[in-house]
Amino acid sequence: PRIAVLASGRGSNLAALLAARERGELPVDFVLVGSDKAAAGALRLAEAANIPTLALDPRGYPDRLAFDLDLFARIAASGAEWLVLAGFMRIIDAAALGPWVGRIINIHPSLLPKYRGLHTHRRALEAGDREHGASVHFVTAELDGGPVIAQARLAIQPGDDELQLAQRLLPLEHRLLPAVLRLLAERRLQWDGHAARFDGRLL
Ligand code: GRF
Repeated sequence: PRIAVLASGRGSNLAALLAARERGELPVDFVLVGSDKAAAGALRLAEAANIPTLALDPRGYPDRLAFDLDLFARIAASGAEWLVLAGFMRIIDAAALGPWVGRIINIHPSLLPKYRGLHTHRRALEAGDREHGASVHFVTAELDGGPVIAQARLAIQPGDDELQLAQRLLPLEHRLLPAVLRLLAERRLQWDGHAARFDGRLL
């Protein structure tokens, strides 16, 4: 399947996807990497991998919807069949998201439904949680609220601070996201309008 990726930052999750593809473990085509930050490391990774890139500056648009509609029009024009948010730090307007619901996934650094939104590692530490993790989920208009597809878990160690926890979680993310994309590639994962299903089994 043809996949577009949106990222706002360094792109370590994108790097993990590209590495999985290089190893022959991920039979997908990346048709576009887009960002709201022209300086995003993710765009440099895409350029190095000869993947078309797109950087749209939100300041060039009158409002969020105008930006999102233009971005998603370009994603559609790329021929992408799936859209992966890998560290894309914007909330997408429901009107732009609509046609993509069911074909857009996100990786979020918490064990959803816990800690939707930002500062997830800090919130898990402050709550005294014994476990933390990452979730890949279908994206819906509800922020970090779509059906969870798969999760990676790790034990919070005594003395972990926010940075250490984030750094220990990242390698798990780098295994989780490619694994979910493999399901997409094998057409074993779909959205049935309200839940994620894998080979017919409700996740
Ligand atoms: C990851 O922790 C991801 O879970 C969250 O933002 C971070 C993106 O990191 N959405 P990177 O840009 O992929 O390195």
